[in-house]
Amino acid sequence: MRRAPGSGASAFLWPLAASLLVLVLPPPGLAASQLRLRQACSTCRGIADRFGQGLTDTAKKNFGGGNTAWEEKTLSKYETSEIRLVEIIENLCDSSNFECNNMVEEHEEHIEAWWFKWKKKNPDLFKWLCIEKIEVCCPAGTYGPDCLACLGGSERPCHGNGRCDGDGTRGGDGSCSCNKEHKGEFCLDCADGYYNSHRNDTHSVCTACHNSCKTCTGAANTDCQDCKEGWTKNEEACVDVDECAVEDSPCNGDQYCLNTDGSFSCRACDISCVECTGEGPDRCKSCIAGYEMEEEKCTDVNECALPEKVCVRENEDCVNTPGGYKCVCTEGFEDKDGVCAPIIKTEEEAPENSSSPAATHEDL
Ligand SMILES: *[C@@H]1O[C@H](CO)[C@@H](O)[C@H](O)[C@H]1NC(C)=O
Ligand SMILES: *[C@@H]1O[C@H](CO)[C@@H](O)[C@H](O)[C@H]1NC(C)=O
Repeated sequence: MRRAPGSGASAFLWPLAASLLVLVLPPPGLAASQLRLRQACSTCRGIADRFGQGLTDTAKKNFGGGNTAWEEKTLSKYETSEIRLVEIIENLCDSSNFECNNMVEEHEEHIEAWWFKWKKKNPDLFKWLCIEKIEVCCPAGTYGPDCLACLGGSERPCHGNGRCDGDGTRGGDGSCSCNKEHKGEFCLDCADGYYNSHRNDTHSVCTACHNSCKTCTGAANTDCQDCKEGWTKNEEACVDVDECAVEDSPCNGDQYCLNTDGSFSCRACDISCVECTGEGPDRCKSCIAGYEMEEEKCTDVNECALPEKVCVRENEDCVNTPGGYKCVCTEGFEDKDGVCAPIIKTEEEAPENSSSPAATHEDL
């Protein structure tokens, strides 16, 4: 759709198309900045998590075993020391993670202040740093620059039936993407194929309809409002449509139609059939060449047993095959220049492998 301005006949339409695009698509800068806002929060969350990991990793450092008074005193000093803080900060980011290193560098003063001053009162570094100081995250259930409540409230965003856009970040618009059972702005309505098995102002449970319903008011096939494709409504319920019961079969000539619940399939006829009404050689309408109807079943014709011989050369045997027959030189004879000649064995030299001695007649 997007073409370079000036390309062919559409050139004069371009200004119009461009102005329409602006109305439809958000400016590219906006999407990118949205992404950055979400990214910043997850970077900060990563830093807070790694800080917690660093605390654990350094908890027993340099102090193995005993607990003399000296050790205890030194330990408690180390516990809150700058040395320990530096060790932890060094491991907050992978060296290749530019965003992370940038954020730590930019806000190292905050981290230090927390370590020396605020840790006791505000033990949750994520909350203190990412939500309150750097302001890149929001409390769960809130979104956007001002951490507003998601649709459906911050307690249960989207009433527990969907995901709130920007949840926990400074980005997004707080709107809901509902799970597959729910729909609507607040994820309280049921999607097609589901019905409300429980509902009040704040809670909505949507349960699957009967397989035959597109929409329904309850679980049974008698509770359908509209039927799914492949089903039709009689007085009481949605019932399967027999797609195969029509005069013109929806399948190809070499297939038969198999009705199933809500649908149908086309399956290949038996190989002995020209057209069929079902599976197997006993459901053929007629037989292919080399087969004949015998006891209502397409059966291979044994050409070798016909009154008139089909293999007529001397020293030749007839071998019956499905749908055909082969003429093969009798044992001890080989096909040579169109006749079955006795095989002459040379003692020393093994004869070269000759091509198949059998003349075949697969098709009659
Ligand atoms: C709505 O339903 C939920 C789940 O059954 C229940 O916990 C809640 O108290 C109900 N709220 C009201 C206002 O009835
Ligand atoms: C003849 O054919 C057989 C089996 O196909 C093979 O094992 C053998 O090596 C062949 N001999 C020669 C002389 O090509």
